[in-house]
Amino acid sequence: MKSIVILVSGRGSNMEAIVRAGLAGARISAVISNRADAKGLEFAAAHGIATAVVDHKAFASREEFDAALAGAIDAHRPDLVVLAGFMRVLTDGFVRHYEGRLLNIHPSLLPAFPGLHTHRRALEAGVRVHGATVHFVTPTLDCGPVVIQAVIPVLPDDDEDSLSARVLKHEHRIYPQAVRWFVEERLSISAQGRVLLRDEVGEEAGW
Ligand code: GAR
Repeated sequence: MKSIVILVSGRGSNMEAIVRAGLAGARISAVISNRADAKGLEFAAAHGIATAVVDHKAFASREEFDAALAGAIDAHRPDLVVLAGFMRVLTDGFVRHYEGRLLNIHPSLLPAFPGLHTHRRALEAGVRVHGATVHFVTPTLDCGPVVIQAVIPVLPDDDEDSLSARVLKHEHRIYPQAVRWFVEERLSISAQGRVLLRDEVGEEAGW
């Protein structure tokens, strides 16, 4: 049974999608937040999942916060750590500690629009397609190897709300998919930092 720890900072709808996917061979060991008021914690607790809060404001530096966060995570001996709307920049040391077992979802077609306000920036840039990306986390923000992307058209009357709502629906599809691949031991990252994915019949693709 693979142990998964999910980190959230707010609503937690991606965490919810992963929990609801009911992945065989995996157990959501804990949902951890840097904010005590994160809505996602309520859903997790209501579903019998252990929750914890490591408040970033209680620490003098990123290093100290990340060390405390890693302690809370490692108590659950995770095979995989899933960032699901976790809105803290992580130190290199933290990211290296979870190398190859740390996934993130970002609401844009990376490498376009790393950082914040992705939907607004996509509209301002006038792009015709937009979407979401699941990637392995590496020390450079929003730059890790891409696992799966969802692409949607930008419609003429889209605003930030309509675009983000349509992207979010696809996030809820691709994130459980990526986590399922990992749990089934079909998804990994090579020493060269390439994504390796085996299909159902064992054929391996790399990119
Ligand atoms: C999601 O859209 C996720 O892609 C984004 O925050 C939202 C969290 O929603 N993540 C980032 O922007 C990370 N840089 P959720 O809490 O309902 O899953």
